[in-house]
Amino acid sequence: MGKTLGVPVRKIPAMPEPCPTAASEFAISTDKDRLDRELIHSFLTRCYWAKGIPKETFDRSIENSLCFGLYRGDQQIGFARVISDFATYAYLGDVFVIEKFRGQGLSKLLLKRIRAHPNLQGLRRWSLVTRDVHGLYARFGFRPIQSPERHMEIHDPEVYRGKRSRQHGKMHEQKHSGGRSRRLPS
Ligand SMILES: CC(C)(COP(=O)(O)OP(=O)(O)OC[C@H]1O[C@@H](n2cnc3c(N)ncnc32)[C@H](O)[C@@H]1OP(=O)(O)O)[C@@H](O)C(=O)NCCC(=O)NCCS
Repeated sequence: MGKTLGVPVRKIPAMPEPCPTAASEFAISTDKDRLDRELIHSFLTRCYWAKGIPKETFDRSIENSLCFGLYRGDQQIGFARVISDFATYAYLGDVFVIEKFRGQGLSKLLLKRIRAHPNLQGLRRWSLVTRDVHGLYARFGFRPIQSPERHMEIHDPEVYRGKRSRQHGKMHEQKHSGGRSRRLPS
């Protein structure tokens, strides 16, 4: 197990080499070294589901996921990642295609490639959360949860806002104590 930013990181099984998609102009790759992290983070930190995600949290999510980059030549134009044990379960998240390239079937290429990935076969369950793109995922076998009463979750949509304000509060406190740490009243 490696470490990123002092946090343990799972080793993701080796993935096959990137290969061109059906539309030869575009390619999909699971090579993390090829990812344009600035582009992905900049999209995610402004999107509705991960708004404000700190860079270090984002980096950790990349390290611990199977990431799919969508490229036109050297330019990254889309992304998705899968969180999985590669045996029983997979969660699909952070799916996007940059605006200029939408409406030409590229998310379908991405989904097709993800569903066909050799390390993601024979799983008991796939899941995802979407606000409005149900039609896309339905094409790839996703259905609304059949028995919602059996599912539970812990969801904290304010988690990044809390982190930011805690960080800001800490900086504010240091600034106003001349860098010395102060004991807070109990
Ligand atoms: C959703 C998104 C990935 C689709 O990418 P895309 O490459 O433009 O999609 P495609 O051209 O492959 O079209 C896929 C299908 O999904 C449908 N679709 C695309 N965007 C949609 C949206 N926002 N809402 C509902 N359906 C949508 C298309 O109509 C198309 O259906 P069709 O084949 O019946 O015509 C892209 O619009 C995007 O990045 N949106 C912002 C981020 C986002 O919302 N991601 C999904 C989070 S769950």
